[in-house]
Parts: sequence; C-alpha cells; structure tokens
Amino acid sequence: FGYINYLVEKDRKYILDTLVNGLSRLEYRGYDSAGLAVDGDKKNEVFAFKEVGKVAKLKQLIEESKPDLTKVFDNHAGIAHTRWATHGPPSRLNCHPHRSDPNWEFAVVHNGIITNYKELKALLEAKGYKFETETDTEAIAKLTKYIFDEHPDIDFTTLVKSVIKELQGAFGLLVKSVHFPGEVVAARKGSPLVIGVRTQRKMKVDFVDVEFAEEGQALPAERASQNAALKKGKSLLTVPDLSTDKSLLHRSQSRAFLSDDGVPQPTEFFLSSDPSAIIEHTKKVLYLEDDDIAHIHDGQLNIHRLSRLEGASNVRAIQTLEIELQEIMKGRFEHFMQKEIFEQPESVVNAMRGRLNVKDKTITLGGLKSYIGTIRRCRRLIFIACGTSFHSCMAVRGAFEELTDIPISVELASDFLDRQAPVFRDDTCVFVSQSGETADSLMALRYCLERGALTVGIVNVVGSSISLMTHCGVHINAGPEIGVASTKAYTSQFVCMIMFALSLSEDRASKTQRRLDIMEGLGKVSGQITEILKLDKSIKEMCLQFKDQKSMLLLGRGAQHATALEGALKIKEISYLHCEAVMSGELKHGVLALVDENLPIVMILTRDDIFAKSLNAYQQVIARKGRPIVICNTGDKEFPGEKTDKIEVPHTVDVLQGLLNVLPLQLMAYWLAVAEGLNVDFPRNLAKSVTVE
Ligand code: G6P
Repeated sequence: FGYINYLVEKDRKYILDTLVNGLSRLEYRGYDSAGLAVDGDKKNEVFAFKEVGKVAKLKQLIEESKPDLTKVFDNHAGIAHTRWATHGPPSRLNCHPHRSDPNWEFAVVHNGIITNYKELKALLEAKGYKFETETDTEAIAKLTKYIFDEHPDIDFTTLVKSVIKELQGAFGLLVKSVHFPGEVVAARKGSPLVIGVRTQRKMKVDFVDVEFAEEGQALPAERASQNAALKKGKSLLTVPDLSTDKSLLHRSQSRAFLSDDGVPQPTEFFLSSDPSAIIEHTKKVLYLEDDDIAHIHDGQLNIHRLSRLEGASNVRAIQTLEIELQEIMKGRFEHFMQKEIFEQPESVVNAMRGRLNVKDKTITLGGLKSYIGTIRRCRRLIFIACGTSFHSCMAVRGAFEELTDIPISVELASDFLDRQAPVFRDDTCVFVSQSGETADSLMALRYCLERGALTVGIVNVVGSSISLMTHCGVHINAGPEIGVASTKAYTSQFVCMIMFALSLSEDRASKTQRRLDIMEGLGKVSGQITEILKLDKSIKEMCLQFKDQKSMLLLGRGAQHATALEGALKIKEISYLHCEAVMSGELKHGVLALVDENLPIVMILTRDDIFAKSLNAYQQVIARKGRPIVICNTGDKEFPGEKTDKIEVPHTVDVLQGLLNVLPLQLMAYWLAVAEGLNVDFPRNLAKSVTVE
C-alpha cells in the first residue's frame, strides 16, 4: 500500500493512519509481519517502522515511538506492506520495506518473488553491498542503489526501469527515495497493482497515456544479449549506458490532474495490490498492466512501459469502482468468513443475475458469447485451478461430461505445470480462481496461451491478471471475499460453471428437459441456502462433540467427493483439525482400518443415482461401531434419528446438490475453529492470495 499527496495539507498522523489502515484492509493477504516507511523530520531522513505479527502491533509500535504527529506536509510519500513469508521467517529484519543501506536512500515494498535474487545478491556483494536479510526483495533495494551510485543524475523512472530489467520472477513493487522526496515509482509484472486518485475538485481526466520507450519494442543488441545471459542464469549486471540504451529513455509527458483553470490541483494517490484498501478514499482507480511503470510526483502520474506490446492499449482508463465500503466490512458478524457464509443466498443470485432466465429457459453469459461455438467444438475442456477453486471444478466435472459429451479433465495448476502436460490449439483451458492472481494458476495460463489453446477465466476479482489475460470468461460476481477460507466464491464458481455447461449444451435437443430441470433447480437454490443456514445453531452444538479430537473423516461419493474434499480443506485450514476426505467407494480399500467407535466421521448421503452404493459405506461404518454424522435430504427415512446424528438439507437436482451440501461443512469448520478460540479469518501460515509458486 502506498500514499502520496500533493498540495494537500496533511499532518503526519493522517499519513500514518492512512498507511496503517490501508495495511489492515490488506491484512487478509498476509499477516505475519507489517511495516512502513515515511519521510522523517530532517532532510534525507526516513521513519521506518517494522513489526512481527498483525498490523495492530505495528500501530502500537508507532504509537510507542511517539513521532511528531502534528507536523504538516503538503507533499509527502509513504509505502507500506503486510508480509506472507516466503524467503526467510517472519522477523523485523525480514519485514518490508527493505532498504538499500542503513540511511534508507531507497526503500522498497514488494509482492511476488524474484527468482534470480541469489545471483543478484552475489554480484552486488562482490561489489561491496552488504545484505542484512534473507529476503529476495532486499536485492531490489540494493540493486537500485548500485545503479543510482553509478548514475547520480539518473531520473527516478529510468532508475527503476533499469532495475526491473534485471529482475526475473514476479513483482508488484513500490519504491521511494530520499533523493526523490514526495515521489513513488510503482512497477508491476505478474502481481496486481491499482492506483486510486482523489482530487479536491472534479477530476476531468478519464485516462492516462502510456509512454513507450523511444525506440519501440526493440532492445539494443547489447541489452538483448545481457537479457539472454540473464535467462541462462547469468547476470552481467553492467550499469546501463544511458546514451545508447534507448529502451530506457522516455518522453517526460505527464498526466496531471488539472482543475478547470488548467493548473495542477491538490491530489492524493493511493497505491494498492487490491482496491479494497482504496475504496474508502476514492472510487476513481486505474489498474496497471504487466510491464507498466508508474511514476507519481507533483500531482502527476506518468505511466511508462519497458517495451511496446503489439496490440496493447496505450492508455490506462480511470475507472469507477463498483464495490461499496460496507462490502468489505464485517458488519454484524464476528468474522469475515461468517459474514461470507451468510452472504451466500445473495451471492449465488448475483452470479445468476441477468444471465439465467428460468421463464424463458435461457442462459446468457455475455463474456463467453462469441466463443461458445468454438468451445463446443474443442477437443478437450481442461479445468485448471488451486485449492478451493480446484474443488469447485471437481464438483461440476460430472455435469460437464453429461451435458456436453466433451472429455473433461480437472487439473491442479502446480501439478499440470510440473508434468508439462500436453496442450493443443484445439483445447479449451478454463482457469478458475477467486483472486485471479494465484501464481500457480497464472503460470499455467501462460503455458496454455503459449501453446495456442483457447483460455477461459472464471474469476471473482474484476481486473485481476487471470481475468485480463484469458480470451474470454465469466465474472462470478460474489463481491469481495476477505476470509482466507473461501466460501461464497466456491458456491458462486459452482453456479457459474453449471451455467457454462448449460450454455454449451444449448444446441442438444436430447438434453432439453434435463437442462430445464437444472435451470429450475438454480432458480430455487438461494432459498434453499437460506433454509440450510438456519441449521447454524444446531451445527455449532454438534461441533462440541469434536472437541479434543485430533482427526476426522469426511466421506462422499460421485460429485459429493468434491464436497468432502472442500469440507475437509475448510476444517483443516481454519480449525487445524486433521480431516481426510475419502471417496466412499475406497473406504473398504484401506481407510476402514481407522474406523472405531471414537473416530468422528461425517458422511454425505443425499439422494442421487448412486445413493444405494453410498449406503454400503454407511453400513460398513455402522458395522464397525462407528457413529457417523450424516448429511442427508430432509425427511429421509433411511437414517432413523436415534441411531445417527443427522444434518438435513433440502433436495435439489443431483448436479446442484453439492452446492447445498457444502454449507453445513462450512459452518462446521467455522464453529470448530471458534470452539478452539482460533482466529478464523487469519489461519496460521496461510494467505488468501498466493502469488508465489
Ligand atoms: C490460497 C487460498 C485458498 C484458495 C487458493 C486458490 O491457497 O488460501 O483459499 O482456494 O489459494 O486461490 P484462487 O484465488 O486462485 O481461487
């Protein structure tokens, strides 16, 4: 998160509060440590605060250090960061911002991963630069100083450009410097960055021009050979020759936020990896694209690119955010996860709004419209995702197979890449992701694009990398999901993918009645979710019997195996109780050995074509004196009350039943964690959006 003001009188308290508050909005993305850097009282002085733990602890540290909060600044820049540790454990030292030297000449905050940081470090160490942390980010700060030391007259943009040319990997980064007070340079490649602009009077600007390097995309031969060397794992790390390296030069036109009389007006800029930290300040935002470098100074915003991209737009539009602040607040709920579970009656409707028309029996997915014909003719549909999003793909696989007759595979993004699985031009690859930024999924997307496949995004976050990079797609419209454990995104992904399958099968006369049944089922799903959420209290009580358990099983068959996988993941990630999902048919092949009268077992036994087979597993458990909790359809006589604990859910079309069955499991995970006194929204070691491989 970054904050820059120009001609706006703000005291230090406001500036620090803005940065800390921005961090707390982003805390769900990483929360093992937090830090910030702002200008100090004297020239060339920087105040940096870093603390292990949550943002609240950073705030406390700042209060304790008693900086002069009354000091007023017209022009000021600060950068801040919450960390999810990858390189080096959480510690004050490893926490961002990272500095170029003990005097903080350059300070950097960074999301993503620099894969060649070891070489850069070795080269810089050989040149006498001293490293103090175990992070990859520190190499960026040191490299910036190295290039600056060699070129003291370099301008800020050219400096950062020269730095990022040496970086491999992914980054969203902000740099501030005592040499360029009141300025920040932001750069993105693979990690999201959004800039919010607030002006005191009406803003007349609705786009910002992108400035390309003078010579277009061609890199000078010398630089190209350096890049080739870098690719091979070597870095020459020669200082750029600014007189010959035209790819570094740029025209210095800026977009100032002028008022009616044409003079720059007081302006504030908010930089963030996520609009949820910006929304309370301004709704006017601009998303950076990969290879964009934004320079903010004197109320002006310049956007440069490393190189011209064929077909890329040369303006960045200023857009108006559509989310409201209350959507990212907890409201009457204890936790974001709880709020999001209870939002599902509306979020599934939002997924269908303007798309499903039960009366006219139509589905309209605007983002897929011109591609549906091509997708129908594809050789295979490959679904690629991670975590919960992977489970939603598993949950709808059967529906796609049945409705489309297209061979379907569902892949974990990391494994798909590890195998370098074959992908062809006539494949359609569907990327399902809440955040649209998960590194494994993004890498797999690039891999499929390189091989010429048609790519589809099923994404929640508008403007995210996956939604921008795919050829076409569907936004699931679930609204911001803050809780690390994904809930409403799962059900909305489910709904959107079912609508996708229905669209694909529109031309199949033999499926007319079946399609209609599913559409009618979708029409009722919201009300049924409301019914199930009424079980909240009884599920909370039921969870008490699991207290002090170390392990549990969750059994499901067919599409309900995906429900079991998703339920088990929820339970593991927030209550830290080991929970294994078992395909019911496989129980007898091994896991049955664990069953006794003590092991908690939850069995999903709603009615479908394979119900009789699912019952076999139930009998096998009962015969071993197990006492399963059964998730069954309302009023099912198969499970007499006195013998078995039951969670009754309404019946729906078989392909939608998983959408309902997952809800009691979400509630169970929630109450198990609360019973243990755990912080549901911030499970240890996990992050909402994992932007590293
Ligand atoms: C992380 C989160 C999970 C999420 C997964 C995929 O691991 O903790 O909750 O399911 O990433 O995220 P995506 O944003 O791609 O759906």
